[in-house]
Amino acid sequence: MGAEDINVPRRRFLVAATVALGAAGSAAAAVPFIASMSPSARARAAGAPVDVDIGKIEPGQMLRVAWRGKPVWVVRRTSQMLAGLPKNDPKLRDPRSLQSVQPPDCRNESRAIKPEYLVVVGICTHLGCSPTYRPELAPPDLGPDWRGGWLCPCHGSLYDLAARVYKDVPAPLNMEVPPHHYVSEAKIMIGVDAKGGV
Ligand code: FES
Repeated sequence: MGAEDINVPRRRFLVAATVALGAAGSAAAAVPFIASMSPSARARAAGAPVDVDIGKIEPGQMLRVAWRGKPVWVVRRTSQMLAGLPKNDPKLRDPRSLQSVQPPDCRNESRAIKPEYLVVVGICTHLGCSPTYRPELAPPDLGPDWRGGWLCPCHGSLYDLAARVYKDVPAPLNMEVPPHHYVSEAKIMIGVDAKGGV
């Protein structure tokens, strides 16, 4: 189920509609600044919170940013995507996210402060690969019940659009939701929650 298996219509869809790269302007601008710091200041900055502008993410798109050297994804979910989440519950290992890591205000069905925006650390909970965003409905390789989510290319673990892991795959846990909060309607800060917790 690698990239070579992506059929032409799906590839077009992926290129056209799904992934937005690098809109964490403050993070990108910070790189030269960080390089000029002392080692201890650099270490502190590497763990610093990251502001992310979410205002330009189109419905269905996923934005990739970096926080503490990890990939963090922000997905703007459509109402159709959100409506499909409860239907996945019987197929999931931990549909209520009782075992997984997320801030208290994200322990809910959508695993989000605002259901429209999922923020998640994009690392598979099996052995740490980065899963592939597969938002399309019922693609041939994932079956008629697939309502969007992620496929890990390493050993085939599957996650739904709340980053909840399916049963009977190698990954043991839902993907982690990092601490974050809304600075404004169009901006979130990753790395610290609304109460200042990290
Ligand atoms: S690392 Fe993702 S399934 Fe093994």
